[in-house]
Amino acid sequence: MFLDRVKPLDAILATAEKKSLHRSLGAVQLTLFGIGCIIGTGIFVLTSAGAQKAGPGLMLAFIIAGLVCIVAALCYAEIAAMVPVAGSAYTYTYATMGELLAWTVGWALVLEYAIAASAVSVGWSGYFAGTILNEFFGLSLPAWLSAGPLALGGSEGGLINLPALVIALLVTWLLMIGTTESARVNAVLVAIKITALTAFIGLTLTSAYFDPDKFNPFLPAGIFGGFGSGVGAVGAAATIFFAYVGFDAVSTAAEETKNPQRNVPIGLVGSLLICTIFYILVAAGAIGTIGGQPIMGPNGMPFPAGSEELARQCLMPEHRDALVCSNEALAHVLRQIGFSGIGNVLGIAAFLALPSVILILLFGQTRIFFVMARDGLFPEKLAEVHPKWKTPYIVTGLTGLLVAVAAAFLPVGQLADIANAGTLYAFFMVAIAVMLLRKQAPDRERPFTVPALWLVGPLTIGGCLFLFLNLPTEAMLVLPGWTIIGFIIYFAYSRRSSHLGRGVVVVVDDIEGEEKMVPIDTSEN
Ligand code: ALA
Repeated sequence: MFLDRVKPLDAILATAEKKSLHRSLGAVQLTLFGIGCIIGTGIFVLTSAGAQKAGPGLMLAFIIAGLVCIVAALCYAEIAAMVPVAGSAYTYTYATMGELLAWTVGWALVLEYAIAASAVSVGWSGYFAGTILNEFFGLSLPAWLSAGPLALGGSEGGLINLPALVIALLVTWLLMIGTTESARVNAVLVAIKITALTAFIGLTLTSAYFDPDKFNPFLPAGIFGGFGSGVGAVGAAATIFFAYVGFDAVSTAAEETKNPQRNVPIGLVGSLLICTIFYILVAAGAIGTIGGQPIMGPNGMPFPAGSEELARQCLMPEHRDALVCSNEALAHVLRQIGFSGIGNVLGIAAFLALPSVILILLFGQTRIFFVMARDGLFPEKLAEVHPKWKTPYIVTGLTGLLVAVAAAFLPVGQLADIANAGTLYAFFMVAIAVMLLRKQAPDRERPFTVPALWLVGPLTIGGCLFLFLNLPTEAMLVLPGWTIIGFIIYFAYSRRSSHLGRGVVVVVDDIEGEEKMVPIDTSEN
């Protein structure tokens, strides 16, 4: 009975027709946009956590996570080209599996976008404190201002991560006053990130420090460390999956793309492939030069990344310079192999480029909330547009506060794992939605069709489930816990106030556009 309220596709598509954005993006721009969303804290910072989980097997972890993302990307490509409207996985689920499940997806996307924005803020804070404050100004932040408390997995003496809090609030303010990133700024930032990573790869792979013996043993914690353990190559893949999060933002640009049947899949898969190759080479360069073996606990398994024990081990002189202990992994590697100056330049590149990833993620989050509020699932007040700034400022401000608080108190690895849990759920549901739509609406026009969907779809579902089960148990448990909170809100408020439940739907898809309520017939799809 709760799986009713499927939003008719025609009602959803009507919103897209109203919007009719100018189709201006080509394959190259879309790929660049994808790379701009993808490269961030995952590679610049979480390389350390990944190495602590898998050692040199981190390279394999990048391949496993990349493959899951590529099959998911194909599913996104089909549905995004077919239903090119705002709301992404939430909207696709609404059209296929009904309001209740759509609500769970929209609610889980908070983890994907908002918590991921927190993780990137914490990653940025490592580069700010290490490169900008320490290397350039010779200052060091007191421990209590540079990380969350140990009880939550932060560092010894930590209380609050002030730089992470500040950057999250700053980006929120920029979004509230209407800042969006232009394609040109994105292209410049992508160039900065690609140049930094290319320089890193070139310098490390040709360095005199490079020694193939550093890859031995290749899998010190095995391939599979056990479900919930968060170690081994697949445990690392579940964490490092974060490095690919954000590619689905490309699908949200489907409506603005020329020839979407060709360009959306190229943008999605192309940006992922390029990033996968970069990531594997960066991991090879980091591990081949300074080594990347995990710090092992007494049971012969690596200490959990982000744990108290590991934080203590990292204070010991023999571990202080280890890759797995660094908060600014890539700059640290370059400094260790004699390229301090270039390490600092790379640190500046991360310092400049990571805020744009926060901006994209936060923007994505506010758009999802906005669409949910417009569907009546949140109070409409939340979606109120500021008369001068023309932005949904209330929802943006509230989301930004959530992001900033999470960034201030939680460590990057835990935040990334939680974001991954939400993202994997969304990808899982998108794969189901694509397969359902092939059955429910076989004759609808599909600008792009996934080749061998009955293989790619189940592979996506299985891959997401497998990575999810390999997250650390605490991160895994956040998703059901969060979903229960979501259900309480849904049944206490949203179900009753839903527009679809009241038999009306709003047809407009633009924040500034005029809204119109029209009655709908939910009996056919
Ligand atoms: N993939 C993005 C990053 O690594 C979220 O920062």
